[in-house]
Amino acid sequence: MSGENPLKIKRIHHIEFLVGNARQAAYFYRKGFGFSQTAYRGLETGERGVTSYALTQGRINFLFTTPLNANQPGSAHISKHSDGVRDVALQVEDADKAFEEATRRGAQVAEEPHNDTDQNGTVRRAAVHTYGDTIHSLISYKDYSGPFLPGFVTAPIPGEDAGLLQVDHVVGNVELGRMEFWADFYSRVFGFKRLISFDDKDISTEYSALMSIVMSDDSQLVKFPINEPAPGRKRSQIDEYLDAYGGPGVQHIALLCGDAVKTVGKLQGNGIEFLRVPDSYYDVVRDRVGRIDESLDAIRSLGILVDRDQEGYLLQIFSKPVEDRPTLFFEIIQRKGSRGFGKGNFRALFEAIELEQARRGNL
Ligand code: FE2
Repeated sequence: MSGENPLKIKRIHHIEFLVGNARQAAYFYRKGFGFSQTAYRGLETGERGVTSYALTQGRINFLFTTPLNANQPGSAHISKHSDGVRDVALQVEDADKAFEEATRRGAQVAEEPHNDTDQNGTVRRAAVHTYGDTIHSLISYKDYSGPFLPGFVTAPIPGEDAGLLQVDHVVGNVELGRMEFWADFYSRVFGFKRLISFDDKDISTEYSALMSIVMSDDSQLVKFPINEPAPGRKRSQIDEYLDAYGGPGVQHIALLCGDAVKTVGKLQGNGIEFLRVPDSYYDVVRDRVGRIDESLDAIRSLGILVDRDQEGYLLQIFSKPVEDRPTLFFEIIQRKGSRGFGKGNFRALFEAIELEQARRGNL
């Protein structure tokens, strides 16, 4: 059914990270990724359990939370996973109705519907479980007019905006054999459609492979790809994640920008580290994707990848993991017509590696 939106999801409201030191994480995302701090809650605001910093850039809202003692539920999450995404929170028309519909369709309860209130008004909140220890909060506004959510006070620290505009997609890694289950979960509970599937022939090198299904709402505003490892000659990167994270969780968050050359240049200047493909990638990129608006020299020097499909092209680059465990990383993506996910880059990466091998006489 086209246009089905049983939970009446409006957008990703925010993404909450549970971290060991939210103060330092907030600094990293301000100085590294160009976010601005907007709001705070903690001991000084009467909050006894956790400290949280709300950061924003474009329409992206990140929340960094640290439990203030070992008895807080978040402490077990951090002990098991280290820093990671706890909540991909969704704004819905009516949190009560969304919760009722989600649980009726089989979602597991994380939080029953309740009011969240302060002097600035009330929001209605509930939450359901998704893969691993990750949840989706369901948030609807009643009359709240404060800085972020009830309980928070305004605490502005401007960052140097890097041109990041919105969350493009949030990718989950799940265990071998569980991808279909979770794709079906988003179809059954959220009414999402299967946008694209990639099998191990699409996403493989000589050594390892993974499979992926992209689930999306009808407007393609909220896209949740699900990965699982595929058997290969060596260990899949998904297996590495599952070991390091201690189970399923958010693998990467793709952030949309309007000028990848500018944004990636800025982030690299800030010290954010990105994966590099061999330089030979750029020897064949023109033949592969045709004419692009950006200077090839700029793309090459920044290490930005390009892919084209029938609708247009996209520019993308992947950060290294942003914590010591090889778990969460970021993708920076600019879409110029393409609604894809850079499928061509997996092949190109492989071909680029082979070209290097051939130059060395090792192919
Ligand atoms: Fe991605």
